[in-house]
Amino acid sequence: NNHVVIMAGGVGSRFWPMSTTDFPKQFIDVLGCGKTLLQLTVERFRDVCGVENMWIVTSAAYAELVKGQLPDINPEHILLEPCRRNTAPCIAYVSWKIKAKNPKANIVVTPSDHIVMDLREFVRVVNSALKFTADSDAIVTLGMQATRPETGYGYIEGDLSMACPSNKEIYRVDAFKEKPDLETAKRYLQRKNYFWNAGIFIWNVSTIVNAFRVYQPTMSNIFEGLLPYYYTEVEQEKIDKLFPTCENISIDYAIMEKAEEIYVFPASFGWSDLGTWGSLHDNLHKDAHNNVCIGENIHLHESRNCIVHTTEEKKVVVQGLDGYIVAEKNDRLLICRLSEEQRIKEFAVE
Ligand code: GDD
Ligand code: MG
Repeated sequence: NNHVVIMAGGVGSRFWPMSTTDFPKQFIDVLGCGKTLLQLTVERFRDVCGVENMWIVTSAAYAELVKGQLPDINPEHILLEPCRRNTAPCIAYVSWKIKAKNPKANIVVTPSDHIVMDLREFVRVVNSALKFTADSDAIVTLGMQATRPETGYGYIEGDLSMACPSNKEIYRVDAFKEKPDLETAKRYLQRKNYFWNAGIFIWNVSTIVNAFRVYQPTMSNIFEGLLPYYYTEVEQEKIDKLFPTCENISIDYAIMEKAEEIYVFPASFGWSDLGTWGSLHDNLHKDAHNNVCIGENIHLHESRNCIVHTTEEKKVVVQGLDGYIVAEKNDRLLICRLSEEQRIKEFAVE
């Protein structure tokens, strides 16, 4: 009865110019391993449920990309949003859809822009959390040990004084804080009971539908009203009309910061959100001067702490740079200080 929902409708704007609105990072072989981030995500969940219970939610614009990269997934399970409304409407849409056929479904929701090192431990943790939510109305988050005052993640404040009786690895959450400012993140880093939110959520379908009813009644009414059209030939037409009326809000602000029955499963399986060039630099092989080169014909001289990316059969020569991103794709070239990478969002002109 386990289902996996993969959210794959983001644009990855901090990864420009590798990731663009036309071709976002989840559809790219970012790691150079022969598989795209989306394909790696599906693979990671192979031992959690069969492909027949996997769901992909994405923008209509990426329908062909998803179908092409995931030929095993039932096209009926690829849900298409007519416009981008962030992750709360995405999760509401698929939750009501799963509930319509399977009111007892137990669900993992996952982003499609992560890397995980220890796959066995990852699967153990997810399956253990699913066992927990199979018979409790809990929202379970996975808590990652924070190692720097990251402002691009949500933080979970766990109450580590008492573990849950039915699963000794799971604790109650006192508070959930989405993306703090730097000063606050520095304070959180000092505390043992604050974790990064991995962005992976585990719950049974009634728990999440009820949470939407309580904390997002307007959005909840929209999907309640759409229920009779699910699995009919007018579903897409109705979604196209009503989905755009949903508020543009992430699940973290819409539900997680408000809900009360939240739990955290502190885990370590070597995890990273591939959100920025810096995160890629952290996770790939570095040369003796802490440089990462992605591409065939890159030549570095007297350079340190750089990440250089090229997709063309182009010779790229870099001299004398320290701490820079040099990235090139098609007709776009970016040269930016690694320390300013959060601003790439603003610079990224399509
Ligand atoms: N279908 C759909 N529609 N998917 C979307 C949309 C949308 O409108 N917007 C984003 N996504 C997908 C992205 O493709 C990604 O896989 C996932 O949802 C999460 O979105 P991000 O935009 O990458 O979120 P984030 O990284 O800034 O923050 C979230 O993840 C962090 C950990 O990776 C939050 O949950 C943070 O609290 C968390 O720490
Ligand atoms: Mg992300």
